[in-house]
Amino acid sequence: MLNENPDQIRERRGLSVKWNSYEKDVIPLWVADMDLPTPPEVTQTLLDTISRSDLGYPSKQLYDRYLTSLNHWSEDHFGYSYKADELEPVGDVVQAIYWATKQLPGDSVIFLTPAYPPFFRAVKESGKEAVTSQMPLLAGSYQIDMEDLREKVRKHPNSILLLCNPHNPTGRVFTRAELESLAEMALENDLWVISDEIHRDILFEDHVHIPFSSISPEVEARTVSLISGSKTFNIAGLHAAAVHIPAGTPSETMRLIPKGLLSGPSSLGMLASAVAFETSGTWLNDTLNYISHNREALSDFSTASKVNAAIPEGTYMSWIDLAPHLPADDDNAYEYLLREAKLALSPGLDFLPVGGETHVRINLATSHQTIEESLRRLKSAIGL
Ligand SMILES: Cc1ncc(COP(=O)(O)O)c(C=O)c1O
Repeated sequence: MLNENPDQIRERRGLSVKWNSYEKDVIPLWVADMDLPTPPEVTQTLLDTISRSDLGYPSKQLYDRYLTSLNHWSEDHFGYSYKADELEPVGDVVQAIYWATKQLPGDSVIFLTPAYPPFFRAVKESGKEAVTSQMPLLAGSYQIDMEDLREKVRKHPNSILLLCNPHNPTGRVFTRAELESLAEMALENDLWVISDEIHRDILFEDHVHIPFSSISPEVEARTVSLISGSKTFNIAGLHAAAVHIPAGTPSETMRLIPKGLLSGPSSLGMLASAVAFETSGTWLNDTLNYISHNREALSDFSTASKVNAAIPEGTYMSWIDLAPHLPADDDNAYEYLLREAKLALSPGLDFLPVGGETHVRINLATSHQTIEESLRRLKSAIGL
């Protein structure tokens, strides 16, 4: 069980980019990993493995155990498993985003904004056109503008649809009805879909994650899914992810990049993920309960202060618009909070290049005290 024991939840000044990029008096709530301990089973297994110096190239058995455990977890948690022989182990999800956007057929890539920043970079590197559809805020929740998206698909018929669900940074967990509309659009227009589902286990209240591929066999046949235990179990630095590439995908397109150029998962990453998938369901529930408290603190703060913060349905991120609270001549929220509140959040412009300057993304996966202090600093910086 997580508690307030400072030995369990601490600043991680060791190897973490999150805690080593700013001055010591700055609270860093930016990059998407947690300040919470990894599952104890994972820690013990890693310690045992390292103490045996068992750090050679990974065996076929380890690859098999990794993919099998990932698939069993998917079946148990989402009632859907991927076809085992279509699951490809990869080093990380970002690599797979670059791989799939470049290799799948399509002249442009359509995605929702605000968006996870590597989406912009991957599309640019692929040489394809980025076509974006901004999610409007309606009654406190960011929505897909289906009309706008349909129009963009109509204008760019030879496209790839790049999805992120649960959605970073708005925290939306798309409903079945929303996913079915997207699926219909994809099938009607013969679009390939890349579905980044790395945040699929970080769910609050009664929100349910529906794997995009599970919508129908036709959708599955056109969807490349990106999955990983790295966010779920807080082991991003160990590098292990997987891509589901359906058999119908033109193999020449997905395989054009020689496999030797793609780094695979690390043995410690696969081992840690497998152990976590096999044993750490209760740990995940406890961790989500712990983070819920921070989510509620943000919600109370938002109601009391009228600060427009999207309370996440999934992911441990919140997308905050500080527009009405910033000085007219100083409207870059990230820079303002870094300077005035010593808070390092993620800059809105990275997610929304036009109009994102008044926004920031905050990472809620930290200690209760850290969130309390961060909200206190935020409030004071905006003069409330
Ligand atoms: C939507 C999304 N995809 C991918 C990643 C990164 O995945 P990986 O570390 O496996 O490259 C993140 C990390 O924040 C993310 O939010």
